Amino acid sequence: MRTPEETAGEPRYVPALGYHFLTPLYDTAIALMTRETTWRKALVKQIAATPRDVVLDVGCGTGTLAVMLKRTSPYTTVYGIDPDPDVLGRAEIKARDNGTLVHFMKGYGADVAERAAPLRVTKVVSSLVLHQVPLEGKREILANMLAALKPGGEIHIADYGLQRSATMRLLFRQIQHLDGCEGTQPNADGIVPVLMEEIGFDNVREDRVIATPTGSISLYSGRRA
Ligand SMILES: C[S@@+](CC[C@H](N)C(=O)[O-])C[C@H]1O[C@@H](n2cnc3c(N)ncnc32)[C@H](O)[C@@H]1O
Repeated sequence: MRTPEETAGEPRYVPALGYHFLTPLYDTAIALMTRETTWRKALVKQIAATPRDVVLDVGCGTGTLAVMLKRTSPYTTVYGIDPDPDVLGRAEIKARDNGTLVHFMKGYGADVAERAAPLRVTKVVSSLVLHQVPLEGKREILANMLAALKPGGEIHIADYGLQRSATMRLLFRQIQHLDGCEGTQPNADGIVPVLMEEIGFDNVREDRVIATPTGSISLYSGRRA
């Protein structure tokens, strides 16, 4: 069944858990399937947001990372952008229930540069988005994330990355079953840091690799010169 957005002619996107009807289960599934506390805490530590930072979370989904960032550094300005109104509604409720103010907006990765232009973003972040997007979409999102940043700004990403062992490749098939292979396979082959460099980020690094029951999640960082 087509969503109202698709009916209105907007581009398609893969919903948070692969299918729209599964979205209510998203937070529980991520908690059970990904060692969520471990990698999210590591990502928040890596982002190291300060009160002077303006952080934009691309493909923010139900807002878990954005809310964690705001709770960890209450004076940081935090924005979240996602094309799916359903997850954005859940994100608004999560922020409110946590007593935090996060600015959520509807938009695609391709809209990020334009939407971020007035925001003076110092750190652009994203978690579990790129593996869902085909190769050209990954390029487009990363290029927009670079364009969204002030010079000297940082990018921080957590996503399924290079699956280095047979066990991790086997476990990652669960994600490939949900999200399809077009977007997921290039991630499993290690494309993310390659694309980050190709697009023009400096100091691109894979900072951590965290084994999970659904494959390994890598934390990447880079910088806009
Ligand atoms: C697996 S969820 C991850 C959500 C959240 N970042 C997290 O860590 O839980 C992927 C999210 O990416 C969004 N998404 C899919 N295609 C996108 C695109 N082209 N641009 C921006 N977001 C997209 C989906 O709507 C979904 O909320």
